[in-house]
Amino acid sequence: MDLKAKYNQLDTYNKQAELGGGEERIEKQHAAGKKTARERILEFLDPGTFNEIDKLMTHRNYDFGMEAQKVLGDGLVSGYGKVNGRLVYVFAQDFTVFGGSLSRANADKIVKIQELALKMGAPVVGLNDSGGARIQEGVESLAGYADIFYNNVISSGVIPQISAILGPCAGGAVYSPALTDFIFMVNEKSHMFVTGPEVIKTVTHEDVSKEELGGAHTHSTKSGVAHFSGSDEEQTIMMVRELLSFLPSNNLEDPPVIPSMDPVDRIDEHLQEIVPVDPNKPYDMHEIIQTVIDNKHFLEVQPQYAQNIIVGFARFGGRPVGIVANQPGHLAGVLDINSSVKAARFVRFCDAFNLPLVTFVDVPGFLPGTNQEFGGIIKHGAKLLYAFAEATVPKITIITRKAYGGAYDVMSSKHIGADVNLAYPTAEIAVMGPEGAINIIHRNGLSAEEKTKAVEEYREKFANPYKAASLGYIDEIIHPKNTRKKIVDALEMTHNKRKSNPPKKHGNIPL
Ligand code: HXC
Repeated sequence: MDLKAKYNQLDTYNKQAELGGGEERIEKQHAAGKKTARERILEFLDPGTFNEIDKLMTHRNYDFGMEAQKVLGDGLVSGYGKVNGRLVYVFAQDFTVFGGSLSRANADKIVKIQELALKMGAPVVGLNDSGGARIQEGVESLAGYADIFYNNVISSGVIPQISAILGPCAGGAVYSPALTDFIFMVNEKSHMFVTGPEVIKTVTHEDVSKEELGGAHTHSTKSGVAHFSGSDEEQTIMMVRELLSFLPSNNLEDPPVIPSMDPVDRIDEHLQEIVPVDPNKPYDMHEIIQTVIDNKHFLEVQPQYAQNIIVGFARFGGRPVGIVANQPGHLAGVLDINSSVKAARFVRFCDAFNLPLVTFVDVPGFLPGTNQEFGGIIKHGAKLLYAFAEATVPKITIITRKAYGGAYDVMSSKHIGADVNLAYPTAEIAVMGPEGAINIIHRNGLSAEEKTKAVEEYREKFANPYKAASLGYIDEIIHPKNTRKKIVDALEMTHNKRKSNPPKKHGNIPL
């Protein structure tokens, strides 16, 4: 073979690999409103930065006539490139090749990416679109999955791991995304379930559609499995890029700082009016968050799930932070099982990746009821307490209104290690709300008139921030209009925080 022929051979192989399962299947994929694995990767990465790895790998299966059905790359496109100029590892399952199913070779490619990413300290993003285990390969495919799961766990808390589900993802295959930090789904195009509608029909006699069982809406509102959902693939992939812009490449780096034109000392008179004087009136905590962060740019995580708590990413003076906030506009901002778990996981992510925590508190307590108690609110509420207490990143807390009972302690109080605790003059830091307190203190009953008076007296005496401030539990009571400047100053003051918990194998969070 002469030199030219050798170069031609390489070009031919590359072209073959790039065709995946062939033009017909690519057309079918497009007709279903889906892109191919390669198209997705090119859309996701900065232009011209993709370097493919194992493009010519094939499966090693000789059963079911598979030796005659080898496709270069074997249904997985993987490699590395850049997002906003920073290194990212990526793999994408190619549905045009055996339905994106996972072969042993396929798993080897993913494992190689995971190991490189861990060694180099850069995020891994998986674009999933797969019929699950390569049925022709049996247990070898299962072994491949387990290798991937193992790497997911070992990488957890070291490098960010992100999963975008862009097609089917069923059976045990769901557990790799579930082990990663964030799951993105596409409305009506992606589905996740452990057992599908047919198995469910046989076992439990329930009739449920694929969409209702495991679509993006279900996982964004009911199960809390998905953290983000996009209206189409393009939007979803852009959201992954946006998320990465807030994150460091690994746990030893600080999150990336970007230039910010929003003045750090911006005073906002509007904030003076947001929290109503009447403690029973709801308001939207988003308004406070949007007003104080840089350029109103808030990337909310799980915006449709457990809406009584708000979590997400924002920046102050260009520096990324994680925000946790009770939402008095939904169930009065009460802490329940779902909101505790949602926030606990977010707090632990931020702590693992050096994102300071800014917490806004307006919480009437834990939700009462047999549903909550039987569901284990004790252990689930404890997760949030545990997460805030073990977090060693800078912790800044602002109490806007209610901070009652155990929920006061839980919501990043001074007592569990917060560095700066601020309160508005509207704050009510007390063991419980005035009405509840009076009902208990005066068990024997008071006339309506006496009760109103007693409630008023209690409110005056205890439902304010001054008692807590006199004890040093609150560092400063501030005018709401100064919130942004106060947070920026607190973040700057805590920037070099040195704090670590005692060495241990790992803690025992109440799961
Ligand atoms: C091999 C597969 C495959 C698989 C799909 N294909 N899934 N090949 N192994 N798991 C092939 C099909 O044969 C077909 O090949 C092509 O991919 C496209 O599939 P279609 O069925 O035509 O596509 P569609 O109608 O869109 O349906 C997609 C689907 C369906 C819902 C994913 O293919 C399906 O139900 N597949 C089987 C899912 C499954 O049971 N997987 C194993 C689960 S067990 P041709 O040549 O016709 O184009 C599992 C265990 C994991 O995953 C455990 C981990 C611990």
